[in-house]
Amino acid sequence: MTRIVYVNGEYLPEDQAKVSVFDRGFLFADGVYEVTSVLDGKLIDFDGHTKRLTRSLNELDMRAPCDSATLLEIHRELVTRNDLVDGMIYLQITRGAPNDRDFAYPAPETEPTLVLFTQSKPGLADSPMAKTGMKVISIEDQRWGRRDIKTVQLLYPSMGKMMAKAAGCDDAWMVEDGAVTEGTSNNAYIIKDGTIITRNLGTEILHGITRAAVLRFAREAQMKVEERPFTVAEAQAADEAFITSASTFVMPVVELDGQSIGTGKPGPVAARLREIYLEESRKAAI
Ligand code: PDD
Repeated sequence: MTRIVYVNGEYLPEDQAKVSVFDRGFLFADGVYEVTSVLDGKLIDFDGHTKRLTRSLNELDMRAPCDSATLLEIHRELVTRNDLVDGMIYLQITRGAPNDRDFAYPAPETEPTLVLFTQSKPGLADSPMAKTGMKVISIEDQRWGRRDIKTVQLLYPSMGKMMAKAAGCDDAWMVEDGAVTEGTSNNAYIIKDGTIITRNLGTEILHGITRAAVLRFAREAQMKVEERPFTVAEAQAADEAFITSASTFVMPVVELDGQSIGTGKPGPVAARLREIYLEESRKAAI
């Protein structure tokens, strides 16, 4: 079956879905994106993702191509047209395609580019990694200063992923001024003496939608949460560690820079949070 992709108002077979070479996303990484997961054909945390999308657009003075209700319709139409059961929907908006390359933003009436496509991942919620845990390395955080905006400039995170692979690991945690910011495409957490510790929100990290939900569920379950920076040494001495993102939900981390965390196996708190997150998110899925 050919994947059907959405481009600027049209549903097209993927080999016919095209954008201009002058697109600002292509030339300047002048674009924002969202990744929403789909379980049993339903959208997880859709509201959170559209709210963050609006915030990203506002922070960059970028025009929205349509309202949130229309975005929801497009998401649902793509799920239907692609028979998507489990997976993700990727959405990207760029500042459009003026007819030349220019650092200055194009005229405000330039139509933004809107692209959405599906990624099928059967059994997304039953990832074997949830049983074994991930191994991560630490690397210097060399990204720009507005990581709270979900832009498509992902070269450094991509380099980080390759550094992790070269070290025989699954991901990299980025470190700035001695403290962990986040993973290449996820938020980072440790657990010490029953307290969940994760970096506080700011311009240094992306305000994860999964993070917000997981912390809410944790507090509702009377777990203690501390939002503050933590170091690599603190993480290595923690009882447990994990990450969150739309595509991995809650995923245990069992090793950092070659050192086992806790027992070296996924811990009970991360496992419980994963269970609660999946259960509650499935219930609230639309
Ligand atoms: N990444 N931090 C970074 C740098 C991210 O790229 C992401 C998401 C997160 C987690 O945010 P959320 O819980 O809203 O997915 C944190 C997506 C999944 C991606 O780039 O594929």
